[in-house]
Amino acid sequence: MKRILSCMQPTNRLQLGNYLGALRNWVAMQDEDGGVNECLYGVVDLHAITVPHDKEALANATRETAAAYIAAGVDPKRSYIFAQSAVPAHAQLAWLFTATTPMGWLNRMTQFKEKAGKNKEKASVGLYSYPILMAADILIYKATHVPVGDDQKQHLELARDIAGSFNEKFNCGEEFFPLPEPVITGEATRVMSLRDGTQKMSKSAESDMTRINLTDDADTIAKKIKKAKSDPDALPSNEKECEGRPEADNLLGIYAALSDQTKEQVMNEFGGKQFSEFKPALADLAVEKLSPITNRMNELMADPAEIDAILRAGAEKANELAQPTCDEAAKLMGFWS
Ligand code: TYM
Repeated sequence: MKRILSCMQPTNRLQLGNYLGALRNWVAMQDEDGGVNECLYGVVDLHAITVPHDKEALANATRETAAAYIAAGVDPKRSYIFAQSAVPAHAQLAWLFTATTPMGWLNRMTQFKEKAGKNKEKASVGLYSYPILMAADILIYKATHVPVGDDQKQHLELARDIAGSFNEKFNCGEEFFPLPEPVITGEATRVMSLRDGTQKMSKSAESDMTRINLTDDADTIAKKIKKAKSDPDALPSNEKECEGRPEADNLLGIYAALSDQTKEQVMNEFGGKQFSEFKPALADLAVEKLSPITNRMNELMADPAEIDAILRAGAEKANELAQPTCDEAAKLMGFWS
């Protein structure tokens, strides 16, 4: 049996990259092999406060993120959905790791450099140590598999390093913290901005036109795809022709992921055709696939008490699994208990 763990930050609205790069694979792993895997899906609100946040919006964003999981197919009867802040062992284990992880390991993290930008002095300590909390999120459940988008690869490597180093340093054998396997799969592991094919699609990018939000209605989706940056040439017919055409490459990847095809199959169909023909087909496909999720999210958000009940039940189970691991880790480190 695999133990699957993955999480998203409740910052802004979830976007197409979150869905295609991660959430869809969460559902697939939940349903794999007749549903034998144990799946935990967290809303990482402690991570969300590492950048300035709106305290009025945080709790609702947590609910909305949970609603998106359910709307996309995570079944709260089979998978545990919880808010990170409701499971104190995440932060406890994160401190044990923070105190024992070399700064050099964190200095390598490219996402901190990107997020902090030129203003490193003003970035929070939490933004810097963020990948350690992420390692704790995973290791506290002794998760074996972590389905994520391509941008989380380096953080997963760090989590593996932290696990290995803990096992070694505290002589607990290779089994105490299993090294988690990243699961980065599908045709859209890195969805790019609709306005610049060299930038990742992100829920925190300034312009809303760069992304498709899971809350966008059909007209908005169609408008964003129509206005998506492209180039004057016909669509590429093979990988070689995609070179130097990041926007075409990205839109083809999105089409492939949404239609459950390979990019090659999509290029066989659309290669040599004009964007004026491809874009409406992509818009129709996106609306067809995303509208049911949006509608279900809206229904769920109309009953916040129900989402709260799901989050409470998920946290109860998560606490049951997490706290003993944290206690055991503390004991292995020599704490009084
Ligand atoms: P977050 O909230 O930025 O993104 C959530 C998930 O969506 C994926 N993703 C994308 N995939 C493809 N294309 C994109 N443009 C794109 N944008 C986002 C991310 O890879 C991620 O899988 N640090 C994590 C949250 C986290 C976590 C964890 C994940 C905290 N603890 C433990 C896994 C396990 C993050 O900020 O994801």
